[in-house]
Amino acid sequence: MTASSPKIGFVCGSLRQNSINQTLTKALMKKAKAAGAKASHIDLSKYEMPIFHGDLKTPSTVKKLIKRMKDCDGIIIVSPEYNGSMPPLLKNVIDWTSTVETGHISGPVYGIASCTPGPLSGVMVMRQIQFTLMRLGADLVPVQTGCGNASSAFDKAGNLTAQPASMLADKMLTQMINRIAAKR
Ligand SMILES: Cc1cc2nc3c(=O)[nH]c(=O)nc-3n(C[C@H](O)[C@H](O)[C@H](O)COP(=O)(O)O)c2cc1C
Repeated sequence: MTASSPKIGFVCGSLRQNSINQTLTKALMKKAKAAGAKASHIDLSKYEMPIFHGDLKTPSTVKKLIKRMKDCDGIIIVSPEYNGSMPPLLKNVIDWTSTVETGHISGPVYGIASCTPGPLSGVMVMRQIQFTLMRLGADLVPVQTGCGNASSAFDKAGNLTAQPASMLADKMLTQMINRIAAKR
């Protein structure tokens, strides 16, 4: 890692203890570091905000989160799938921040990942996130990391070992790092 290494932030859409998406987040961060990036966790529990409605004053956490995200060259969103869609935590963060500006969406290169207990690997939520980010002007890498059957996807050290998820994660990170380099 050098001073010019790409800075990749990881946002997880689950704050649950023992969250499988937090496990995937950590595994992806390890892979990003191994690929030469500076990986950091953008922990949404540090940016608490109420459920959005239009009469509320913008909480300071919204502006802090936007600043933190704008400081990244790339952002990977790792999200659970709730009823085929985004969990309210993630949707709320996107909606709140979009009322202030969209530079934190249009600036960094974006990647999307999801982990599910069953075999379907969050394809529906990844599509939803892709759609929403694209509407806000995001530059998204094409490969997404869907990781199904979470209970057998990681080794004891938390490395992502399941295929094709591990291969997809490597491709997604390579695409992101190359895209960031091309933008510089
Ligand atoms: C409200 C709700 C809706 C869910 N809907 C889906 C779904 O559409 N697809 C799916 O694969 N899992 C679904 N699940 C199961 C989650 O994938 C599972 O609870 C997962 O562990 C949540 O992620 P986490 O462990 O990172 O918190 C749902 C869970 C909840 C609580």
